[in-house]
Amino acid sequence: MKFFIDTANLDEIAEAQALGVLDGVTTNPSLMAKEGITGEANILAHYQKICEIVDGDVSAEVISTDFEGMVKEGEALAALHPQIVVKLPLIADGIKACKYFSDKGIRTNVTLVFSAGQALLAAKAGATYVSPFLGRLDDISTDGLNLIAEIRQIYDNYAFETQILSASIRHTMHVIDCAKIGSDVMTGPLSSITGLLKHPLTDIGLAKFLEDYKKGNQ
Ligand code: E4P
Repeated sequence: MKFFIDTANLDEIAEAQALGVLDGVTTNPSLMAKEGITGEANILAHYQKICEIVDGDVSAEVISTDFEGMVKEGEALAALHPQIVVKLPLIADGIKACKYFSDKGIRTNVTLVFSAGQALLAAKAGATYVSPFLGRLDDISTDGLNLIAEIRQIYDNYAFETQILSASIRHTMHVIDCAKIGSDVMTGPLSSITGLLKHPLTDIGLAKFLEDYKKGNQ
């Protein structure tokens, strides 16, 4: 399973990249706003900086909600850097734009996916990635993991090449459960990656090894 980090924070991206397990970055307009990145020129420059840090795909989301606007914005984003993946919302014009980009060989990430039917549409439109929002479904007492499993089954039934990018990951157990189901990618905060490192027996074991080494090497 590929690990993407879901942030526009350059320090966090650099930290995950330094760990050596990062495969890409996802951003969205809320994450860009959180970092105080506003204005078209600054936004494009920020995507460029992200691409220079990470060795992998970088999802950059369009703001337009009409087909023509999405095509114009998406083409500008894709021209920015070869690592850019154009992120499109799952609405009718987003699906049309996805098909347009797919036919042109431009990679896409169809976002805001909350049902298996929506994921099926994205795959039929040739999406590179589909982003079901696991955490936001869990937030409203709906089984987000079940959606990931449903999409896995549908994509496998028809050998769709669209990759399942489990998004809105909140914690390490989401990461582990997505891996068990066979999600192709997960995107989450830095804590969902670094949290996987933690086990008290590792810390206790390492302390004992070092203590015993010191005893024998004084
Ligand atoms: C997906 O690409 C989104 O950026 C993201 O995962 C949304 O997560 P949230 O529900 O934590 O905002």
